Amino acid sequence: MMRLQKFLAHAGVGSLRTCEHYIAQGLVQVNGQTVTAMGVQIDLEKDEVSFRGRLVRGAEEKVTILLNKPEGYVTTSKDQFGRPSVLDLIDLPGVRLYPVGRLDYQTTGLLLLTNDGDLTYRLTHPRHHVAKTYEALLQGEVTGVEIRQLEKGVVLDDGYRTGPAKARLLSQKGRNSLVRLTIFEGKNHQVRRMAKAIHHPVLHLKRVQIADLTIGTLKEGAWRKLTEQEIQELKKACGSGRNGGQARK
Ligand code: URA
Repeated sequence: MMRLQKFLAHAGVGSLRTCEHYIAQGLVQVNGQTVTAMGVQIDLEKDEVSFRGRLVRGAEEKVTILLNKPEGYVTTSKDQFGRPSVLDLIDLPGVRLYPVGRLDYQTTGLLLLTNDGDLTYRLTHPRHHVAKTYEALLQGEVTGVEIRQLEKGVVLDDGYRTGPAKARLLSQKGRNSLVRLTIFEGKNHQVRRMAKAIHHPVLHLKRVQIADLTIGTLKEGAWRKLTEQEIQELKKACGSGRNGGQARK
């Protein structure tokens, strides 16, 4: 619940004092009824407020969540093939969230969703070089030379040369290789295409970290809200330039 004048002021109609004047002048309706009394409380989930006959949208509370995306979900809200969306996994009534960047249908792991446009901008702007870390099971036995190629940059199928990355061979799994790869850019399907460039296609891909934020022990399909401190740290990590913010560790 929120006082009507505060709701109007938060929505940008005017200062608190101005909004009180508007109410007193009979310019504000709640659910179609003109309200002139001061101090009326409104229910943000249910009540419809209009000013001079036009609906006022409330200032939405900013929410950012971390989801452990399972395989078999798209990161768009609509899919031409009718496949399930990550948004189906999140039950937060009254909050419209948007995925920050994309993960492929088959990719699992850390996905952020938010209604904070500023955070999305900072995390996805190519200039900010935010670190994204993946664990990738690659087909075949990856050599030290190939790990160094991944780090120095490889040429993708469209001729683009990838920027510096961090790569480490974690283990050999039978005849395949588990590789930890940190990239600082976000071309389409970048990790899969980098793996192809060294002739070791991805068998399984999981994102485990963005900047300093890790997936932790969250189960696949589960999500949690980020704390204010985590959001501030993420914003700080975005920095403002190639050498600002997130260091290339
Ligand atoms: N790189 C990929 O190839 N796929 C993803 O989902 C994320 C990064």
